[in-house]
Amino acid sequence: MSEIVKAQAPYDLQVEHYHGDVLGIRTATPRISWKYDGHVADGDEVELEITLHMPGREGKTESIMTEPVNNVLFNWPLDPLVSREQVEVKARLVDGDSKGAWSKPLKFDEGILEYWELLAGFVGPTWPEEKTDHRHLPLIRHEFSLKDKPVYARLYLSALGLVEGHVNGKEMSKDILTPGWTCYDDRLECWTYDLTDDLNAGENAFGFYLGDGWYRGRIGFKGGKANIYGDKIGVFAQLEVTYSDGSSEQIFSNSHDDTWKSAKGPITQSDLCEGERYDSHLEKDGFDQPGYDDSDWYPVAQIPFDQRKMEFPILPPVRATMVNKPLSIKKIREYDGKADWQIDFAQNCTQRINLHITNAKDGDVIELQHAEVLESDGTLSTRPLRRGQQIDQYVSNGSEAYFEARFATHGFRYAEIRGWRGDLTADDMECKVYFSDMKQTGTFESSNKNVNRLDDNALWSMRSNFVSLPTDCPQRDERLGWTGDISLFSPTAAYFYDVEGFLSSWMQDVAHEQKRLGTVPFYVPFIPYAEWTEPQGIAIWGDSSVRVPWAIYMASGDKQMLAKQYSAAKAWIDEVKGYLSEDGVWDRKPPYSLGQLGDWLDPNAPADDPVKAMTEKNLVATAFYANSCDMFVKMGHELGNDAEADEYSKLAAHVHLGFKKRFFNDKGIMTSDTQCAYALAIAFGLVDDDPETKEFAGHRLALLVRRAHGKIGTGFAGTPYILPALTETGHMNEAYELFLSEECPSWMYQVKMGGTTTWERWDSMEPDGSVNPGVMTSFNHYSLGSVADWIHATVGGLKPTAPAWHQFEVAPRPGGGLTSAKASHETPFGTAKVEWTYEAGKLSVSVDVPYGATAQVDIPGYDKVELRDGHYESSFDYQEV
Ligand code: BGC
Repeated sequence: MSEIVKAQAPYDLQVEHYHGDVLGIRTATPRISWKYDGHVADGDEVELEITLHMPGREGKTESIMTEPVNNVLFNWPLDPLVSREQVEVKARLVDGDSKGAWSKPLKFDEGILEYWELLAGFVGPTWPEEKTDHRHLPLIRHEFSLKDKPVYARLYLSALGLVEGHVNGKEMSKDILTPGWTCYDDRLECWTYDLTDDLNAGENAFGFYLGDGWYRGRIGFKGGKANIYGDKIGVFAQLEVTYSDGSSEQIFSNSHDDTWKSAKGPITQSDLCEGERYDSHLEKDGFDQPGYDDSDWYPVAQIPFDQRKMEFPILPPVRATMVNKPLSIKKIREYDGKADWQIDFAQNCTQRINLHITNAKDGDVIELQHAEVLESDGTLSTRPLRRGQQIDQYVSNGSEAYFEARFATHGFRYAEIRGWRGDLTADDMECKVYFSDMKQTGTFESSNKNVNRLDDNALWSMRSNFVSLPTDCPQRDERLGWTGDISLFSPTAAYFYDVEGFLSSWMQDVAHEQKRLGTVPFYVPFIPYAEWTEPQGIAIWGDSSVRVPWAIYMASGDKQMLAKQYSAAKAWIDEVKGYLSEDGVWDRKPPYSLGQLGDWLDPNAPADDPVKAMTEKNLVATAFYANSCDMFVKMGHELGNDAEADEYSKLAAHVHLGFKKRFFNDKGIMTSDTQCAYALAIAFGLVDDDPETKEFAGHRLALLVRRAHGKIGTGFAGTPYILPALTETGHMNEAYELFLSEECPSWMYQVKMGGTTTWERWDSMEPDGSVNPGVMTSFNHYSLGSVADWIHATVGGLKPTAPAWHQFEVAPRPGGGLTSAKASHETPFGTAKVEWTYEAGKLSVSVDVPYGATAQVDIPGYDKVELRDGHYESSFDYQEV
C-alpha cells in the first residue's frame, strides 16, 4: 500500500550547514538547501526569492527559478556577498501560473570577510599574573555613548582564552566556552551577536569575564601543560552599529584610548578539568552597566595576534538546550549547622549545576564536586578523574545568588554539594546539559528497553564529547581530540546529529596538524606529552583523515567539503604507502614505544596494558589501510578525479591481496584466529573476491562467538564491525546472541550495570559494582558505542547507500525476540523512516521516503524493491532469528 501526498510548501531552508537563522557566516557564495513536505509534480519549478541589503539600507529582491531536484546545496545564484550583507531567502513551488505557498523565510548575515576589517585588538589585564596555574581571572569593561538607539548592531567577539560577554547588565548570549578550541596557531573563531535590542541611546557598557580555557590553562594528562598557546589572555570585541539615518559607528577593544579597563574579578581560579573557585566578595557589582565607578581599575594591555588567523565559525556554539532533574538528593553528613548532600542526576554527561544559594552566611564556602559513578561504599568515584577533580567552590558574601562555573565543564551523573545550610531540594538547582548545539537528525526505538538504553547511551556519549571538538572523554584530565575514537564513531555520529559543520571544522585542524607534523597525530590539536611526544602514523587514528570526511560526505553529500579534505586524505594514503612491505602489508613498527595501538582495549588484553591485544597489529593496520584506500578511491570518483582514482585502486587491490596472502592460511584460518580479525576481513570486503573464503570466515567468526558464549572479544578496532560481519555472512543468531548478551564483556552488560553512557572499557565497572582499578577508566567514551550504527541499519533497518541519503537501504532483520522497532533520519532530502512490527511469522513494515531519494527494500526471501518518495506499508512472511 502506498500513499503519495502532494508537496505544499518547501520547508527547512538552510544556508550551508547552519540550522535556522544565523549570523556571521564565512562564505561569500553560500549554498542554499530546502526540503519538500510531499511529492513534487513533474514540471513544477522552484522560485527562490532572495532579498539582500546592507545594514540600515533599502534592500533589493531577486527571484531565481530552478528545478526542484536542486534542493540540496544549491549553488549561490547571485553575485558574491560582501561583508555584513544581510540576506533573506524564501522558496515556493510554481506550476505555470499557479504558485504554491511561501516557505518560512531564512535569514542570515555575512561575517567580516576581509581580515583588515577586523580592527579591534585583544585586550587583557596589566597586572603581573601567576606564571601558570590558578591565576586570578580578570574582568574587562568599557563604557561608550551612542547618539541614538541603533537600528542594527553586531558585536564580533573572540578571545585568547575564553570569554563571557555582558552588555548593559545582561549576558549577551547563552553560549559558553567562546570562542572554542581550534589550533590557535592557525585559526581562531570570531562569533557574531545581534545587540540591536540591548543597546540604548546615550550611555552603554560592556563587561567581559575572561577565562584561561585551552589557550593558557592546563590541558591534558600526565600532569598536563599550561600556557600552550601563550600566557596572556584577552578579549576581542568589535561593535558595529547603524542608526535610522543610515549613519554608522564602530567601537573596538583597544589599549590606547584608555577607555577599556581591567580588574581582578570574583573568579579566583579556574581550570577546565579541575574546576573553578568563585569569591562573591570580589564581585564588581554593576561593572557591566553604565555609570559604574572604575576609577580604581587598571588599564588594559594589548596582546598581539595575527588577525589573518581569525575566521567566522562553521560549527554551532556550545550551549545548554537540555536540563537534567535530580533523581535523588540525600544528606550524607552534618556538621556546624551545615550539611553535605549527594545528588543523583540520573544521567551521566557534560553538564553544570546552576545552584540557587539562598541561605548561606558570609564566609561560607559551598563546594560542588562531580563524578560519573559511585564507589562501592557510596562515595563519589574521583580517582579515575586523575588531576581533573571537578571541584567548584563558591565563597558566599551572605547574599542570595545563583552560582554556576563559567570556564570549567564537568562530566558527571553524581554530585556532592558540601557546606549547605538548611534543606537542599530540587528547586535549588538546575542542571544544564552542554554540547555544541547541532541539530539532532536520528532517532531509534524498539520493543526492547535495554536495546533502547544502549542506543541512548551512545547518543549521550556523543553529546558529552561533542563540545567544541570531538573528544575522547568529558571528565578526566584528558578531554583531547583523539583521532582514533572519532575515526570509528563518525558514521554513528552522522546518523544521530547533523555533524557536518562541527566535524568539518575540526577536520580543518586535522589537516593543519597533519601538514605541520608530517603525519596525522594521535589527537588534534596536538600537544606533546610523555610517550606521545613524537607523532607517528598509526592505523585507525591516522585513518581519521580519510574516514571522517567520508562519513560526513555520506551524510551530507557535500562535495565542496570533500574536495577540501581530499589532499589531506591523499597525503595520509601516500604516507602509509611508504610504510608497506612489498606484499602490501603495513608491518613497519612505528618508532615510538607503544607501536600501533591495534585493537586497543581488547577485553582479553592485560588490564594494565591495553595495547597487548590478541589480534596482530599488522593485520589490523593493513585492514584499515585497505579500507581507507577503498574510501579514497571512492572520494576520487565522487570528485571526478577518475584517472587518479583508477591509479589508487591498483594500490587498494595490492593491499587487499597482501592482506589475504599474509593473514589467511590455505585452510581459510586467519593468523590471528580472533573475532576482530574475521570481522575486519569480512566487513571491509577483503575477501569479497573469494566467496568460499568469505563464507568460511563467516562460519569461523560465528564459531568464535559461540565458543565465547556470546561474550565480545574485540576492542576499539573490531567492535564497530563484528555485528555487520556476522550479519553480512548470514549469522544472525550469533549476531543477536552477542548483541543481547549481558555477561561481561558485552554491550548489554554496561546497560545491566546501570550505565547511562558508553564506557571506555567493557568492564569500567566490575560485576561486583566496583570501579575498574585501571588508571584509564572512563564511563563516557563513545568508541564502543559505534554498535549503534548496526542497531540503526539492522535492527531499525535504515542505512544510507549513497551520499546525502540519496539512496538508502531498508533492511530490518528482526531477531532476539524483538517485536517492533522504528528508526528515522532527517536526511538532506527530508525524513527517511522505517517502522516494523513482528508477530506470528508476519513482518509488517512501513517506510517513508522523502522526495528526491529512493529506498531499496530488502527482506529475506523477497525480491528487492525500489521505492520513490511516499509512505508505504507492506507485510511479509518472515522467520525470526
Ligand atoms: C584515550 C583514548 C585514545 C587512547 C589512545 C586514551 O587515553 O582516552 O580514547 O584513543 O588513549 O591510546
